[in-house]
Amino acid sequence: MSAPVRKIIIAIDGHSSCGKSTFAKAIAAKLDYIYIDSGAMYRAVTLACMENSLIRDGHLDEKRLPEILMNIEICFQKKPSPQITETWLNGVNVEERIRSVDVASNVSLVSKSRIVRKKLVSMQREMGRDKGIVMDGRDIGTVVFPHADIKIFMTADPEIRAGRRYRELRDKGMDVDFNDILENISERDRLDENRSESPLKKAPDALLLDNSYMTPEQQLEWFSNILLKTDLMKCRK
Ligand code: DC
Repeated sequence: MSAPVRKIIIAIDGHSSCGKSTFAKAIAAKLDYIYIDSGAMYRAVTLACMENSLIRDGHLDEKRLPEILMNIEICFQKKPSPQITETWLNGVNVEERIRSVDVASNVSLVSKSRIVRKKLVSMQREMGRDKGIVMDGRDIGTVVFPHADIKIFMTADPEIRAGRRYRELRDKGMDVDFNDILENISERDRLDENRSESPLKKAPDALLLDNSYMTPEQQLEWFSNILLKTDLMKCRK
């Protein structure tokens, strides 16, 4: 896949567990672009809130949020082998902790907060200042980069997403129930789509990618064809 003649911003949004990060990472690697997992940033803020006891009985202490957000530092570091990007919060590697069940169960609460979103959107825009970036999330094409050069909205049938997640967790040796996973995925879709702050929705100019019956290779081929059809590959005279 050849890169566009100038550096661009690629915004990828979509439902949870539909392979956004795998797809976004693969594109970033092909184009030699930076990949930013915006969901990891919401997870990192959630962890900071939990560590500072801002979450009690499913309630977020919004009064103390500004103090946490003012000093928060989130960055990503690439590990060469195996090739993974890890999330750091205030100088500490939190990659493993932000993927925990505790963080997962509180992240919807934190990500619906207006001041959290304001802070993270501004950090994300700063990360995209020099372009050459692929960012995935829920509001990237609608709020963070409404003028992104390419916007993609990804989805897949809930049963198919649950099946993939089920196999992934089973392969890791976890004892999981398919129906629990399906329920969790449907609930996350409902929360993401119905919150008042930046709900998940397809930007009118986003391209729809339903990968229910597509392999990762087919998805990359789809993207490569999209790229070829744009003016972004043409040299300016
Ligand atoms: O992509 P993920 O599952 O790691 O995202 C974690 C949570 O963060 C999820 O509940 C949705 C939220 N999120 C968001 O509100 N906006 C984004 N741009 C990215 C994620």
